[in-house]
Amino acid sequence: MLVLGIETSCDDTSVAIVRDGQEVLTNLVSSQVKAHRLFGGVVPELASRMHVEKINALIRLALQESGLAFQDLDACAVTYGPGLEGALLVGVSAASALSKALGIPLVGVNHLHAHLYASFLQPDPPEFPFLACLVSGGHTLLIHAKGHFDFESIGQTRDDAAGEAFDKVARALGLPYPGGPIIEKLALDGNAKAFAFPRAMWNQGLDFSFSGLKTAVMQVIKSYDDPSQLPVADICASFQLAVCDIIVHKSMKASQSLELSTLVLCGGVSANRCLQTELLHATSQGGLRLCVPNILYCTDNAAMVAVTGYYELLMGRLRAGPLSVVSTLHF
Ligand code: KG4
Ligand code: ZN
Repeated sequence: MLVLGIETSCDDTSVAIVRDGQEVLTNLVSSQVKAHRLFGGVVPELASRMHVEKINALIRLALQESGLAFQDLDACAVTYGPGLEGALLVGVSAASALSKALGIPLVGVNHLHAHLYASFLQPDPPEFPFLACLVSGGHTLLIHAKGHFDFESIGQTRDDAAGEAFDKVARALGLPYPGGPIIEKLALDGNAKAFAFPRAMWNQGLDFSFSGLKTAVMQVIKSYDDPSQLPVADICASFQLAVCDIIVHKSMKASQSLELSTLVLCGGVSANRCLQTELLHATSQGGLRLCVPNILYCTDNAAMVAVTGYYELLMGRLRAGPLSVVSTLHF
């Protein structure tokens, strides 16, 4: 089955074609990051307009790169939420038009489900039940995944998401958006023990809190009268380690309490190598299997939308009627 996926929930316009929920024929991502960087974050109106400019060309290019024609497609999957309403509308309109014109099913995909299903784009996908730790720019969630679309959220952030904390700390340090990749890079030359940043809610259940950590970093930054003297690499390394420690600790605690032997790490922050290494260390010590999507599928992309659409169809979850966008949507 050939599923064309479309993702436009935030600042990446992406189109992918995936065969049988596993083989990615093409995954095109047009990032708007440079345009939004001028404003220090994502500007919703700009995002919508840039999606409109790119979407049709990307669909054509995806078919061309896969050596396919419109008629070869079996279904069209699209992110309908959560995300920026105007941005989502561009993808949903394009997908609805395609589905109508070609007479193929239109599958609405929850962006959060798609991050989890990114881990299925590998020869040896995770087996249910498992624990998923989803860390992105907008969400930090622990999910008990019992079966396809049988998910229970068991932990979440009370304030900032992990990716949001990376972005805010980067901004405070005068670094460009998005913060995660640049902080990871600078942290390579820093001492992660230079600053003892707090690990909030360490012994309090499975929820997270990152705003205190962000404030602690900002206080250190403010304590330097001369910004040129800021130990940027040390701050990045110490902050990154604090985020990683918290995510690893809570993920392991949840896996152990539910007696789950597989842990899936997903969402944009899962691209972070320090987090991957720490979690690999903890899971192998605890006898758990760790699944992390290929780095291409950690941040927003349409291949993860297509694979989710494939499983939605496989499970007979096709909804009738027109598809509306939903800016706030839970797991
Ligand atoms: O999943 P994603 O692409 O978009 C959302 O659904 O939010 O995640 C984007 C977030 C941003 O906050 C970005 O700073 C973070 O993921 N991120 C990273 C890394 N790459 C992206 N955070 C830490 N380390 C990275 N290498
Ligand atoms: Zn995302």
